[in-house]
Amino acid sequence: MPKKNINIAIDGPAGAGKSTIAKAAAKAFGYIYVDTGALYRAVAYYVLSQGKDVKNAEAVEKLLQDIVPELKYIGGVQHVFVNDEDVSDKIRTPEVSMGASAVSAIPRVRDFLFNLQQKIAAENNVVMDGRDIGTVVLPNADVKIYLTATAEERARRRHKELAEKGETVSFEEVLADVNKRDYNDMHRDIAPLKQAEDAVLCDTTNVDLQGAIDMLINIINEKLGNQSH
Ligand code: DC
Repeated sequence: MPKKNINIAIDGPAGAGKSTIAKAAAKAFGYIYVDTGALYRAVAYYVLSQGKDVKNAEAVEKLLQDIVPELKYIGGVQHVFVNDEDVSDKIRTPEVSMGASAVSAIPRVRDFLFNLQQKIAAENNVVMDGRDIGTVVLPNADVKIYLTATAEERARRRHKELAEKGETVSFEEVLADVNKRDYNDMHRDIAPLKQAEDAVLCDTTNVDLQGAIDMLINIINEKLGNQSH
């Protein structure tokens, strides 16, 4: 039998540093980093670009037949394509963030993206991050990690990031955004964000970035029974 690829699932709320930390861990192990949130963002981007309401399930479902989402790796970096257009940068706006949270609550959107995520994980060694990777997409993942931090700390980090980009938005607004997305993601009927029973909880509230990366690498090594890295 061919050797099964290693699948590492990382879930957690918005702004826990999942992507930065998961990306660094993927690099350390030579695995592909898969940001599944980008796929939900790509759907939201397309819906918005067609002038449709991201909350209107019927309208969104109708558009799915026109969307071909793809993840491509260019120089080791994930790029997201919708119908051959590279939308990697365009999907990072606050409007698309909120839109992604809205479309991700629609069951047919989740079904639509499910096979693509499973296929990538079956064909590659991956560190895959999202909200339901350990619970739904890769229930048999070799390692599952639930990465979190308090809402205040996540908002503080996000606020700093935005300020560095020159965006003037108040801390209170950022915190309200974080809380709203947490609520949406944790309370939707289908595949809500929650810690898988067999996931290791990793709280980065009082840990700096390098500390969090080290924590993750140690957990992965321990779970995989590795001596190296
Ligand atoms: O990780 P992110 O912020 O890019 O994700 C955007 C939205 O997509 C998030 O609010 C919830 C949704 N999402 C999801 O429902 N399931 C995933 N596996 C990944 C993201």
